[in-house]
Amino acid sequence: MDLGLNGKIAVIMGGTSGVGLKTAEMFLQEGAKVAICGRNEERKDKAYDHLMKYGEASSIYAATCDVTNKLDVTSFIENTASSFGGIDILVNAAGQSVMGYFFDVTDEQWEQQIQLKYFAIIYAIRAVHPYLVKQGGGRIININATLAKEPERHMVATAATRAGLLNLSKTLSQELAPDNILVNSVSLGLIRTDQWERRRMKNAPDMNPEDYYADLAKKRNIPIGRVGEAEEVASVILFLASKQSSYVSGSTIETAGALGKAL
Ligand SMILES: NC(=O)c1ccc[n+]([C@@H]2O[C@H](COP(=O)([O-])OP(=O)(O)OC[C@H]3O[C@@H](n4cnc5c(N)ncnc54)[C@H](OP(=O)(O)O)[C@@H]3O)[C@@H](O)[C@H]2O)c1
Repeated sequence: MDLGLNGKIAVIMGGTSGVGLKTAEMFLQEGAKVAICGRNEERKDKAYDHLMKYGEASSIYAATCDVTNKLDVTSFIENTASSFGGIDILVNAAGQSVMGYFFDVTDEQWEQQIQLKYFAIIYAIRAVHPYLVKQGGGRIININATLAKEPERHMVATAATRAGLLNLSKTLSQELAPDNILVNSVSLGLIRTDQWERRRMKNAPDMNPEDYYADLAKKRNIPIGRVGEAEEVASVILFLASKQSSYVSGSTIETAGALGKAL
């Protein structure tokens, strides 16, 4: 199926690993140009080398950028637009969670989550908006978590800020609709990415990876019986960026193997 992504320009905030990197890879396979960023230079260079297997150097832009730093975000987006001649799609995939119950989470951790889940998104959307308008419209896809609707006490700061981002995405879908900019969310359950690989290496380095993830799915009661793969999330992101989803805005697609119970 032609997704209509050939020649489109996609910016992926946090595209140097996990879901963001897989999404970049799949955009390239569809003939799009991609810009990715992350804080860690080595990870960024590795991601760039990986993406070179799927596209030409002229279709890939990779830079270090802390999404919670307004100046970093603005210059990354401006550099992308000037390298590629515009921007059509923004995917907000940068992130990490904070574990902790209410009385354990420090003010610094709350602030970090608020910066990452609100301000990073605000900065990126403000910066891409004029470019999307110039193209006559575009797509914004915010990666979220089932936690947004179903808080878990041991991840209080992440859950609370995720809920706020879901609310913000809905408002923006209405605010930006006259500009023909569609805003949607993808709500993740448990997806096997580098984030989880790091946890596996820390907590169970000697365990067979397949057994580790099977065990995790069982412990978390994932109805579909397994954790998700980054590609299964990237496919949903590509759909939301595609011409096929031209009347979808303000929605949340749960990509969680039926984990979420909230309506
Ligand atoms: N995997 C899951 O089970 C799951 C579940 C629910 C939600 N999510 C969400 O899905 C998104 C992708 O997660 P993932 O599992 O793919 O994680 P991942 O493999 O750890 O990738 C996260 C990416 O975000 C970047 N990043 C993190 N903080 C950043 C910052 N301040 N500035 C710039 N880049 C930053 C990382 O690069 P650097 O570290 O180099 O900056 C990396 O490229 C995240 O928002 C995550 O919270 C994931």
